Amino acid sequence: MKKKIVALSMVACMAASVTACGGSKPAETTAAATEAETEATEAVAEESSAEETKAVAADIETVTPGKLTVATSPDFAPYEFYAIGEDGTPKLSGFDMDLAQYIADYLGLELEVVTVDFDGVLSELQTKSVDIGMAGLSPDEKRMGIMDFSDLYYMGGQSLVTVKDNAEKFNSFEAINKPEVSVGAQVGSIQMDLAETNSPDADIVGLPKVTDIISELLTGKMDAAYIETDVAKSYQKNYPELTLVMDVPYDAEGSAIGVCKGNEALLAGVNEAIAAAKEDGSLEKFIADAGELAAGQKYEGLLDENGNVQN
Ligand code: ARG
Repeated sequence: MKKKIVALSMVACMAASVTACGGSKPAETTAAATEAETEATEAVAEESSAEETKAVAADIETVTPGKLTVATSPDFAPYEFYAIGEDGTPKLSGFDMDLAQYIADYLGLELEVVTVDFDGVLSELQTKSVDIGMAGLSPDEKRMGIMDFSDLYYMGGQSLVTVKDNAEKFNSFEAINKPEVSVGAQVGSIQMDLAETNSPDADIVGLPKVTDIISELLTGKMDAAYIETDVAKSYQKNYPELTLVMDVPYDAEGSAIGVCKGNEALLAGVNEAIAAAKEDGSLEKFIADAGELAAGQKYEGLLDENGNVQN
């Protein structure tokens, strides 16, 4: 059941000031303008953008009133993963999670994150059980019937990945396109489509988590896999045996937020928040922080000395 959210004007004003600080400066300021005049112009700019944001926030309906419910699949460093703290407790981390918090704050909503496997993110959106999906989602055309996509907030690429010992052996689509070669991809992902398009004769293995794919590659149970380039590079920092053998072309490159189909006010609010996070440097910082954290020694999905995924 959807209920309308009544936006608190205080929150809307706070959100608006982010936009205003983010650079909606008056287009022309003559050298002769006095400081007072400039201030007056800025105040007007701020006021009108406060009005705009208030209008956007007031129109937004969410699954649970007052909350922004976000589905994610935390097997995808540096986008989303569990960083294990000093005390051993896993903490949901990654730049998608920081951006999710930013968007919730921007819209004056409380953030609620639902963790599922990646194909679950798609179905949660399809059944409109969540408001948005943030999981390094590619705005693939065939998903457009079940969700709307925000503007892009990150540009990535795709790679074919194996281990160093096999780098010579599995270095092209031809080399892996054989029934005896096992090639992995995450269930429901565009990497699965890439596997089917580029290596249809291979033994294609779909696994629910990218961390399982990494584990299978490292333990020699899988020969090669299609993985997003920056994700593969992130896991490679902890597992230098991994190697990216080639770039894989894909035509809907970049990551977007999946928004519950037809919720136009939310889509507009999310796009505004993304623009603000780009403008004020937050997004850049989230990406840098996540990269650093994911290169640390502890996060879920790392293998123990027996090659088993730690949970
Ligand atoms: N970009 C790919 C897709 O949209 C893979 C995303 C996987 N995300 C994740 N959190 N495991 O299909």
